[in-house]
Amino acid sequence: MLLESGARTGPLHRRVSDGIRELVDLGELPPGALLASERDLAVALAVSRTTVVTAYQTLHQEGRLERRQGSGTRVSLPVAHHGARETVSANVLAGDHAATPFLNGPLATIDFSSAALPFLPLVADVASSVTRDDYLRLGGEHHGYHPRGLPALRERLAGWYTESGLPTTPDQILITNGAQQALEIIIAGCVQPGDGVVVEDPTYRGAIEAFDQAGCRIRPVRCDENGMDVAALARLAAAGPPRLVYAQSTVHNPTGAVLTPDRRLRLVKVASEHDAVLVEDTVLAGTVFDGPSLQPLAAIDDNARILTVGSMSKLFWGGLRLGWIRGSTRAISRLAQLKGFSDLGTSLVSQQIAARLLDHMDEAAESRRAELAVGREHLTRLLAEHLPEWTWTEPAGGPSLWVALPAADTAHFAQVALRFGVAILPGSVFSAGGLGADHTRLPYSLPHSVIAAGVYRLARAWSVYLGEGPEHVPVVSVTT
Ligand SMILES: Cc1ncc(COP(=O)(O)O)c(C=O)c1O
Repeated sequence: MLLESGARTGPLHRRVSDGIRELVDLGELPPGALLASERDLAVALAVSRTTVVTAYQTLHQEGRLERRQGSGTRVSLPVAHHGARETVSANVLAGDHAATPFLNGPLATIDFSSAALPFLPLVADVASSVTRDDYLRLGGEHHGYHPRGLPALRERLAGWYTESGLPTTPDQILITNGAQQALEIIIAGCVQPGDGVVVEDPTYRGAIEAFDQAGCRIRPVRCDENGMDVAALARLAAAGPPRLVYAQSTVHNPTGAVLTPDRRLRLVKVASEHDAVLVEDTVLAGTVFDGPSLQPLAAIDDNARILTVGSMSKLFWGGLRLGWIRGSTRAISRLAQLKGFSDLGTSLVSQQIAARLLDHMDEAAESRRAELAVGREHLTRLLAEHLPEWTWTEPAGGPSLWVALPAADTAHFAQVALRFGVAILPGSVFSAGGLGADHTRLPYSLPHSVIAAGVYRLARAWSVYLGEGPEHVPVVSVTT
C-alpha cells in the first residue's frame, strides 16, 4: 500500500488554505459558517498566526471567505443570500478534530492514533467453515431475535469461564455488540446522571466518553505500572462512595499494566465494602505476554455487584462486533431488557462464527502474544535509537506503548506530527483528571515497515517541535 498519494505538500499556509477550500467546496463548512479566529486556529494547528492570516487572505481573494472587522471570518454566502446571514456554528474549526484534515490528505497519514489489532486470518478460516446447511439450521431454529444472545454461544462462553475456574451458567451471560455496547448497557442499567464513577487515570477513552455522555461525575484514580492505585481508591471511596468503579485489571489500555495480586484482592474488597458496582473490562486479557493466565476479579468473590466485560475484538477481530457481559443471573436479566430496548439482539451470523472461534481461543492468544511481543521489541528498539529522550514502562501485555515526551504538550506535537504524515493522539484524551498532556500512545500492532516509517517521521517532527529541524522535510514513501 502506498501511503503517500494525496499528501498535502508545499508551504504551510497553502496546506491550510487547501484544506479549508476543500471543506468549503464539499459543503462541510456551509455558507455563513463562522471560522475560528486567526489566533485560535494558529494555536489549534500549532502554526504561526501569519500562516493562518495568509491562508484566510488567499481564500478571501478567491471569494470563498468574507472578512469583516469585528465580526470574524465566515464562509461566503451565495450572492442571493447576502443580507440574510445566519450563524451556522459558533466556532467551526476550533477543535482538534475539525482541524485535523487541514494539513494532510487522509491517504498521507500513518495512523498511530488507533491501537486496534489486525484481522486474524483464523477468523476467515472459521467463518468459511459455516456451511449453507448450518445457516439453514440456524434460520430454521431461530426467528433471529435474541436479546440475550445465541444460546449456543452463551453456553460456550459459560463453559469457557467454568473451565478456567469461574463457574458460570449460560443465564449469567449477555451477548453485546462489542465491549463498547456492553459498557453503554451497564451505564444505562446502573448509573444515573450525577452518580460518581471511578476510572483509572489514564484509561480507555471510549469509557471516559461513555460515562461523560451519561452525565456521570467521573472520579479519576491514578494508575501506575502495577495498575490502579487501590489505596487511593480506598481513600476516595471513604470520602464519598462511588456508584461504580470501572477497572481494567488484566492489561490496561493505554499503559499495558496488569494489576498485581494484592491490589486485585483489595480492589474487590473496597468496591464491595462501599457497595459499588465493579465493572471489570477484560477486553485485552488474552494479550498478557508472560506469566500464568489471570482469572477475572469475579473469581475472587463472585458477588452480585461485579460485572465482567469481554470481547472478541482483540484476540480475533473488531469487525465481528461481538462482546459480552458476565454477571449474576439477576443483573444479566435486567441488562438483557436494556439490550432488547436498544437493538433486539446482536447478529446471529456473527454469534455463530464467534461460537466456533471460542474453540480457538488459546491458539489465537498464542499467535497474538507472539506477534505483539515482536512488535513491542521492534517499536522500543526504534524509539530508543531515534527518540532517545522519550520514555516508557515496558507493557505487560496489549498492543501499545504509553510514552512520555519530556516537557511536551502532545496536543501541539500531534499537529506537528500530522505535518509529517503521522496521526497520534494527545495523551490527554485518555485522562479524565487532566493527566497525560505529555504522553502519547504508540501502537506496535502495525506492520513493521509502517512502524519504522512512523518512528522516522516522528523523530523529524520532534526535532521541528523542539525548534531544531527544518519545517519542510519531504515525507518518505512507505510500502507495506
Ligand atoms: C479497554 C477497551 N475496552 C473496550 C473496547 C471496545 O471493544 P469492542 O471492539 O469490543 O467494542 C476497547 C477497544 O479498543 C478497549 O480498548
